[in-house]
Amino acid sequence: MPNDPKTLTTAPAPDNADLPRVTYAKTLVGQPALVTGANSGIGKATAIGLARAGADVVINYVTDPAAAEAVAHEIEGFGGRAIAIQADVSKEDEVLAMFAQAVSHFGTLHIVVSNAGLQRDSPFEQMTLEQWNTVIGINLTGQFLCTREAARVFRKRGIVSEVSVACGKIICMSSVHQEIPWAGHANYAASKGGVMLLMKSIAQELAPHRIRVNSVGPGAIRTPINTEAWSTLEAYADLMRLVPYKRIGEPDDIAQAVAWLASDAADYVTGATLFVDGGMTLYPGFATGG
Ligand code: BGC
Repeated sequence: MPNDPKTLTTAPAPDNADLPRVTYAKTLVGQPALVTGANSGIGKATAIGLARAGADVVINYVTDPAAAEAVAHEIEGFGGRAIAIQADVSKEDEVLAMFAQAVSHFGTLHIVVSNAGLQRDSPFEQMTLEQWNTVIGINLTGQFLCTREAARVFRKRGIVSEVSVACGKIICMSSVHQEIPWAGHANYAASKGGVMLLMKSIAQELAPHRIRVNSVGPGAIRTPINTEAWSTLEAYADLMRLVPYKRIGEPDDIAQAVAWLASDAADYVTGATLFVDGGMTLYPGFATGG
């Protein structure tokens, strides 16, 4: 088992031999997509994955414009179309301006991936209101603002049957922590629990309009948000106790799930959370005993 912590001498690199080697079918041609927080981590991989599936892509970012432009250039490098747009997803005026710019640039949007998120970890009694508000503002209010704009754009346009049988697709980036309580991360877990019922409520409300709303629930994915959980051998071994599949997730594992949920292959799927977590939500502590 190549990623078995017992046989590793360093934390495994992303080119490990047991990683899937998958390409993207061209399922999203003619369906412009907006991905928030797309200049790094899961958002970056998702923007690239959707572009490989044929979508034109809006790369939203709030800091580090050079990183966002680099994602756009990577997409253009394989013949895709992309534009980077700055907006803080927790600010209504910036979200409205971003959607207006996206629609004027690509004509419309068919897919919105509400991905931007962050952590401000703290023991509960030391957690400041600022830490709480920052996480709820980006991770939950940001998803409210972006999914609301998505619904407005989709409904105003209606179904374009040449590109998709659905009127539009919203994918919320949630987490295993919409289910798994997380000491020291109460703000983050609360935000993802909120995303779960936001997603389900709007899925129920928008389904008659043929707008599908789903979440992806990543487990431990190799991104900057959790470097301390995988960058040393000790940390990686600890992490693997929580992952029955015994490898860390890669950003492309998530991008593949998003591309599928956005495609007509998933047309009867709405209101679902697709956990992509190597089994982290399977109560690995109960693998023995109980
Ligand atoms: C968090 C990561 C964490 C993972 C599994 C994610 O939602 O952002 O920091 O490693 O959940 O616990």
